Amino acid sequence: MKLVVVGGGSTYTPELIDGFARLRDSLPIGELVLVDPAADRLELVGGLARRIFAKQGHPGTITTSGDLDASVQGADAVLLQLRVGGQAARNQDETWPLECGCIGQETTGAGGLAKALRTVPVVLDIAERVRRANPDAWIVDFTNPVGIVTRALQTAGHKAVGLCNVAIGFQRKFASLLGVVPERIRLDHVGLNHLTWERGVHLLDQPGGSTGRDVLPELLQRFGPEIADDLELPLSLVRQLGTVPSYYLRYFYEHDRVVEELRVKGSRASEVAAIERELLEMYGDPDLDEKPALLAKRGGAFYSEAAVNLVASLLGTGSPAGAVQVVNVPNNGTLPFLPDDAVIEVPATVDATGAAPLPVPAVEPLYAGLIAHVTAYEQLALDAALRGGRDRVFQALLAHPLVGQIDLADGLTDRLIAHNHEHLAWA
Ligand code: G6P
Ligand code: MN
Repeated sequence: MKLVVVGGGSTYTPELIDGFARLRDSLPIGELVLVDPAADRLELVGGLARRIFAKQGHPGTITTSGDLDASVQGADAVLLQLRVGGQAARNQDETWPLECGCIGQETTGAGGLAKALRTVPVVLDIAERVRRANPDAWIVDFTNPVGIVTRALQTAGHKAVGLCNVAIGFQRKFASLLGVVPERIRLDHVGLNHLTWERGVHLLDQPGGSTGRDVLPELLQRFGPEIADDLELPLSLVRQLGTVPSYYLRYFYEHDRVVEELRVKGSRASEVAAIERELLEMYGDPDLDEKPALLAKRGGAFYSEAAVNLVASLLGTGSPAGAVQVVNVPNNGTLPFLPDDAVIEVPATVDATGAAPLPVPAVEPLYAGLIAHVTAYEQLALDAALRGGRDRVFQALLAHPLVGQIDLADGLTDRLIAHNHEHLAWA
């Protein structure tokens, strides 16, 4: 089995490698290629990756390369985890929207649009080259904004599934609160990437089984304060809703408060850049042969488990107990109030034919309204990313529930374009 990781020079990669090593029974990798244009980072990350495999007795080979076309030859699956413009571009996304009184965030709001505009053309080019090399290869996209990027890949007819670690994070959290193995927890997770709610938490009788009972009311009763604390949302809201919103809902439900916090706090990008400098220095130490604890300060917890489960199921080597996974897939009628080609994030059965969403119970207006609103924004964002032009950027912003006003959309559009000139072919 051959796997390729595009953006393999990311400081996240040792997290992934650690998962590949630990879970090698379900994903027997023979050859792993880390691809990245940044040769210096790639060398540091690749060195550590090889030491992790060696320490854990993994028989697979790990190579590094700057040549995408050569690397994807014969690949069974290609993971995309890249960041166009690096943390510097992210820092911009998190900064200029604040000048207009809007949140600065890398996937939500105007910053997320900027990231989509920079990223979609690059990812589509990579996917095209993967398809040319091997039309059967699966593409797993972890590149943000995952909803829009996956929609772009789907629209272009690629064999792609989008992945995020928010759902697996909740699954692990609830399992540990209840003292059970994660495979006994199945989430009734609904929405769009980074816009989701857990409406049910099913404790299955067997790992991966099909019968169980909803323990969400009990979880909120026993662990409500801890759950609300993690999300930085009021306990009263979480208890009133009886659902667990993802952390990203705070950018909607407490938008103005978050803006005030961000104005004094400094960007996450600058925090991450400092963590990355330290990590890269550690990765260069020839005695280091495991993922360092510092990596836990990044947001990618359980990314490796989610990626291994998904790729293993797509390539037919996964366990049946892990067949149901939360992924980003085309809607195709699952949420009847959205277009078929919208990409939604829901539990799906994953096998070698792809990911098929499980039926979703009717979505309450409190969630459906926001989901539909953001879906329309995502459609316009994708159009702006594919075809460019100031008007399309403006309209995507006007359609965004966190923007919505002419002056605001105008001011944000000017800033977005000014800060992203070098990344936008049309600007
Ligand atoms: C979570 C999200 C990812 C995001 C990451 C940011 O894992 O699901 O989509 O990329 O957080 O983490 P960072 O350490 O870069 O702030
Ligand atoms: Mn995510």
